[in-house]
Amino acid sequence: MSENKTVSFTAMKNGTVEDYKIIAANDDETAKELPDKLIGHLKEMAKDDGAYKISRLDHVLQCATRAHRDGADADWIIAGLFHDIGDVLAPYTHGQVAAEIIRPFVKEEVAWVVRNHGSFQMFYNKSLSEEARNTRDKFKDHKFYQLAVDFCEKWDQNSFDPNYKTETLDFFIPLIREVFTRIPFSQ
Ligand SMILES: [Fe+2]
Ligand SMILES: [Fe+2]
Repeated sequence: MSENKTVSFTAMKNGTVEDYKIIAANDDETAKELPDKLIGHLKEMAKDDGAYKISRLDHVLQCATRAHRDGADADWIIAGLFHDIGDVLAPYTHGQVAAEIIRPFVKEEVAWVVRNHGSFQMFYNKSLSEEARNTRDKFKDHKFYQLAVDFCEKWDQNSFDPNYKTETLDFFIPLIREVFTRIPFSQ
């Protein structure tokens, strides 16, 4: 935990260099707590009472397990674990929220796929119009289009199966700690 130092100012424009050093040190400590906070949020997803056959936590664990068993690297497994993390607070923009959480720590294409996976998942929803189901077509010339198609087809759309032998959250915790303590990419 951070030392209990506080700044001298009540308005940022009056802050001293020393004040901003205190804030930077505090921010560093907060960043170190990120893996535990994310793990805590995944655990919250177990409480979900949605309409699927499995919880949101089991869905993302299953998605990550499939990625792992397909030999995908750490970044893609993290995509599996965290692609739906924004679901509760941002039901209309959850991909963007999830992408921004992982973006400083993963490859560009992984953050892009997470950001846009919602558009690609619509393809599987038979209640939608043909046009809506093909929303992903707006990205068809994008260099990461096929990666998103594959992410959804192989790992996301099929990970609602209560009979699939999914790894536990504990299995993925060392990987979560490794990725979210990487030196973040510049913003
Ligand atoms: Fe999603
Ligand atoms: Fe998902």
